[in-house]
Amino acid sequence: MSEHNLAIVILAAGQGTRMKSATPKVLHRLGGRTLLGHVLRSAESLGADLVRVVVRHEREQVAASLDDYPGAIAVDQDEVPGTGRAVQVGLHALPSDFEGDVLVLSGDVPLIEVETFQAMLSEHRARGAAATLLGAHLADPSGYGRVIRGSDGMVERIVEQKDATPEETVVTEINPGVYVFRAPALRGALEQVGTDNAQGEMYLTDVIGILRRGGDTIAGVTAPDAGVALGVNDRVQLGEAARILNQRVVRRWQLAGVTIQDPATTWIDDTATLAQDVTVLPNTHILGATSVSAGATIGPDTSLVDTEVGENATVRRSDATLAVIGRGVNVGPWAYLRAGAELAEGAKAGTFVEIKNSTVGAGSKVPHLSYVGDAEIGEGVNLGAGAITANYDDIAKHRTVVGDHVKTGSHTVMIAPVTLGAGAKTGAGAVVRKDVPPGALAMSVAPQRNLPGWVEKHRSGTAAADAAVEAQGSEKQADGE
Ligand code: UD1
Ligand code: CA
Repeated sequence: MSEHNLAIVILAAGQGTRMKSATPKVLHRLGGRTLLGHVLRSAESLGADLVRVVVRHEREQVAASLDDYPGAIAVDQDEVPGTGRAVQVGLHALPSDFEGDVLVLSGDVPLIEVETFQAMLSEHRARGAAATLLGAHLADPSGYGRVIRGSDGMVERIVEQKDATPEETVVTEINPGVYVFRAPALRGALEQVGTDNAQGEMYLTDVIGILRRGGDTIAGVTAPDAGVALGVNDRVQLGEAARILNQRVVRRWQLAGVTIQDPATTWIDDTATLAQDVTVLPNTHILGATSVSAGATIGPDTSLVDTEVGENATVRRSDATLAVIGRGVNVGPWAYLRAGAELAEGAKAGTFVEIKNSTVGAGSKVPHLSYVGDAEIGEGVNLGAGAITANYDDIAKHRTVVGDHVKTGSHTVMIAPVTLGAGAKTGAGAVVRKDVPPGALAMSVAPQRNLPGWVEKHRSGTAAADAAVEAQGSEKQADGE
């Protein structure tokens, strides 16, 4: 539903110095999205018609990241620094007659969910407030702006840590950096904000004191838990935010019917989906756009990125990216499925098997020590241990086609481009350079020749020669000589 009376201004112009990174702070990732992406997603679900993102530092990269959110428009902050100035330029980019509510969000505060914004908006409107804050108490409030209340318990102003007196520093009620304002009140108050403070910046937080002194109502909503207020300014906070988000995602899937044996070592991106009765074993990462269907078991020690897993499949101690694992498929332990690996129903990719850009037909097995690249494997195939598709001739990649019900002997090398017809077989160690007709047995290895006594003659005195002499002696005895 669209909200005509709501505008959202997201602050994303800051430098993020404390991240010590070539990547702009708001583009650092957690749970499968950027910090800014999380904020934009919550903003999007509020259905506001007007979304403005204030950019400056690394503006091209940050603005380009808005492509996934068609409603969001980048606005450039000028050389005047500070969150107050950022909001001011955001407001300028709204229709000049906009008189509704402005939700101000920080691009570096990623964990606030849409329900909290909704609660803030309802309280703001019910109270007819000029500004509504989110209230949060932190055991360690250092770094945050503190909420200063009067003797009547009402919010008077916000003071930044760098400008706080020692008495103000001990206050544990902090400003999470998200607010709802009535647009005209915000416009007016910002005109009075100066830069006379420790950082020489226009502080948005000064608006609260200005409105309060003008007799306006400041409302507040309590944050559901302290974690939501977490602002990401350095990599320690990034790690902490990732952990909190992950706990939340894991819990959401547990409540939706997924067994997660060890939440502490399970990482599930916010972007992944899991069905009922999936089991996730320890030390497993389910990332990106991965989807796992009902009854599948993933892990332990498994990483899935942008991968589709079918019903009742099993993936153990394996790594898959951009793969499609069909219903009832068995993967691992120690398999590596790369982009374009598609295993049809009941197929198997076993131990130390790498598959990329290949289809493996229903019920087909690649059980041990194999590389399958750029291949089309039919149904009911068994590739013996050590099967290799030699797909690359140093210039180009070529395809291998293996027909239904083919069985290859151990250590078969298929030199692509090559086709093995339906029902064909290969001998152990075959190097298949020519197409094999359906039903044929391909052998490329010369018949074995034994040279009797070679070791005794050429390696006399070695342990091998002695063992050979002894074995021959006992063979003669057994023959009754
Ligand atoms: C800010 C608040 C502080 C609050 C904290 C919550 C101010 C003055 N302080 O402090 O009270 O407790 O957030 O996390 O508002 N930004 C711009 N333009 C600028 C400066 C910053 O767009 O000129 C953006 C940043 O990209 C960031 C957000 O505003 O997304 C907050 O800026 P930051 O410098 O991190 O402020 P804090 O010191 O964390
Ligand atoms: Ca911050």
